[in-house]
Parts: sequence; C-alpha cells; structure tokens
Amino acid sequence: ARTAAVIPAAGRGVRLGPGAPKALRALGGTPMLIHAVRAMAASRAVSLVVVVAPPDGATEVKGLLDAHPLPEGTDLLVVPGGETRQESVRRGLEVLPPGVYDVVLVHDAARPLVPVETVDAVIEAVRRGAPAVVPALPLADTVKQVEPAGVPGTPEPVVATPERSLLRAVQTPQGFDHDTLVRAHTTVTGEVTDDASMVERLGLSVVVVPGHEEAFKVTRPLDLVLAEAVLARRRH
Ligand code: CTP
Ligand code: MG
Repeated sequence: ARTAAVIPAAGRGVRLGPGAPKALRALGGTPMLIHAVRAMAASRAVSLVVVVAPPDGATEVKGLLDAHPLPEGTDLLVVPGGETRQESVRRGLEVLPPGVYDVVLVHDAARPLVPVETVDAVIEAVRRGAPAVVPALPLADTVKQVEPAGVPGTPEPVVATPERSLLRAVQTPQGFDHDTLVRAHTTVTGEVTDDASMVERLGLSVVVVPGHEEAFKVTRPLDLVLAEAVLARRRH
C-alpha cells in the first residue's frame, strides 16, 4: 500500500492581497509551499509528493524545492497547474505512475502547518476501507444561508439557519482510494470547492476524521499573522 500526496499550489491568492503567488509567500522565512511539502513528507506512509505549481512558476518552484531537499524516501514531481483548483488537482493526478499508489492525499499548499498526526489519521481511515476521508472540525460561528441573488448594496435576506452541531468545517489533506478519486475527476463536471464533494456526487460515502486547529487555511492577511504565531510557538 503506497501513498502519494498531490499539493495544489497554483492559485494567485487574491484574498491574501497583492504580492507573489500565495504558495510562494514566506512563513517564518520559508515559502508556505515548502512547509506544506514537508508536512506531507513527515508522514512515513507518503512516498511521493506531486507539487502543482503556478502555471508560470514551475521553474521557480523546482528551484525552491532543490534548495529545500526532502528526507530520503520521498520522491517529488512538479507540474504546472490550471485555471481552477479542480483543474490543478486533475493535472497532478495525471502524472501519478499507474498502478503504484493506491492511496492519494490532496493537500492545499495554503495549509502549511497541518500536523503529521492529522495526515496519518486520514491515510489510516482510507487504508481501513473508506473511499474518501476528510479531516474536519465543528464550527465556532453560527452559519446563515442567505438569498442567492441578494441586491448589491442592500442587506442580504436570511433564508435558513442550519443546525450548527451538524455542520463541520472541512480541511485538507483529504484522502482517497486512488481509482475513486481519478473516476471523480474524470466524470464529475461543475465547480466544486473540495475533492470529496466530487466523490459524494458519485454516490459514494465520504467520512470525517478529527481535523486540527493548526490545519487552518491561510486565506486572508490575518491568517498569515496567526500562522507566524503558530510557527513561533513551535520553535520555542
Ligand atoms: N489552487 C490551485 N490552482 C488554482 C487555484 C487554487 O492549485 N487554479 C490551490 C491554491 O494554490 C491553494 C489551494 O488550491 O493551495 C486552495 O485554494 P485557495 O485557498 O482558494 O487559494 P487561492 O485560489 O490561491 O486563493 P484566492 O481564492 O484567495 O485567490
Ligand atoms: Mg481560490
């Protein structure tokens, strides 16, 4: 049983604000992508990491990875990404050598601080037979559903309040049986915001394992402040 991790890192990071592509922004002096790659390689089960680079940044990413070598026993591939996260993941899946990796993780470069315990818990649940596994946490905030076409500049009407105790905020790495994930990516069309939802659309079961506070996604500027603080705390 071999495990590969695909890391989509091709986004611009519009919500983080102007600057280098988000995955290449520094965290504790090291690019976020390098942290994310190390977080996957930290699992003994992971023997290949596929980095999906910004379309115009594959050469730069290869240079960065050469400058930050991985421990023995972890192979590395770099491919250019696409217009959407979904397209980027698909390109990563395409370069997996056939018949070698039966478990595939998909992990956002924008979640650089996920602990290895979370990575291993996801892999373990796939190995025990789940076709798709997501790490997730209960929500702190109450969530409201609003009217789809709210008029800009006017307050949005609330249409529903889903019961918070039944909701989960989903993180990565998400783990999959290889063939299931490839089938999802070749048959499911339409925009999605995570890979597991494509497996749901195939009618297959997706299960949740406990996520981790430190697996949060660096999305907005405040997240970078938090990430720096978490890293500083680890280094003490
Ligand atoms: N991603 C990707 N290819 C894309 C878009 C996103 O590989 N075309 C990756 C990002 O690099 C990131 C992960 O998907 O690691 C999660 O996406 P998100 O946090 O939304 O990152 P961005 O799309 O870069 O940010 P934003 O939506 O604010 O522009
Ligand atoms: Mg995005």
